[in-house]
Amino acid sequence: MKKDNIILGVDIGGTGIKGGLIDITKGEMISERYRLATPKPATPEAVAETFAELVAHFKWEGPIGVGFPAIVSHGVALSAANIDKSWVGTNIEKLLSKACGCHVHVLNDADAAGVASMHYGAGKGEMGVVFMLTIGTGIGSALFMDGTLVPNTELGHVFLKGQEQVAEKMVSKAARKAQGLSWKEWGPHFNEYLLHLQRLFSPDLVILGGGGSKNFDEFKDAITTNYRVKPAGFLNKAGSVGAAYYAWEMEQKGN
Ligand code: BGC
Repeated sequence: MKKDNIILGVDIGGTGIKGGLIDITKGEMISERYRLATPKPATPEAVAETFAELVAHFKWEGPIGVGFPAIVSHGVALSAANIDKSWVGTNIEKLLSKACGCHVHVLNDADAAGVASMHYGAGKGEMGVVFMLTIGTGIGSALFMDGTLVPNTELGHVFLKGQEQVAEKMVSKAARKAQGLSWKEWGPHFNEYLLHLQRLFSPDLVILGGGGSKNFDEFKDAITTNYRVKPAGFLNKAGSVGAAYYAWEMEQKGN
């Protein structure tokens, strides 16, 4: 099956590799969502093998978009905060394209979720400085200026309150759990992070994905920012949808 408006969208994460066929015109997954466990250790070779298995499941031969949890510059991983360190320096696009025989386009996972939000979700039509934050094992970020992505912002790695730990080690969903905090108790801590981003970037809007989206009602009263904060409301498929949109755009540009 290969149609111009259909792209296979894949989200590579620390625990699962998930994907489905995405209809770009609607931003919807039109197949079932297929998930394989991320191999352990998640070395480039092992992940490439699992990725090829997922592609084979869909009998897919067209372009593929992939969201990956690292800085991804021109297809190459430049960091590895919550993934196997051996990824640093790996050309993910070349590795995955070779593994499945398809044309693969890769971007950061939070950038992918942000792209989905800006095109089909809570960010649709939003101008100015907009961030998407994904709150999970780490904190991922995506920056948009008048709807255009500025890739690889990595706002989970800013330092808070002069501490040695970066923000995601203090206020991610995983950090909340480790500290035994309810979402309500976590709210004021997360608000400090949002105020820090206010001082640094003066955003117009911050969209929250991951746990920050699902549990928004439980902590929203703690937020005191001068900018708007809203939940993505576009739950666990956003990464795959955004990655597919990105791949479609790249294909249109002849990349
Ligand atoms: C990584 C980011 C990623 C985020 C969410 C962070 O630790 O540095 O690249 O987007 O986790 O997966």
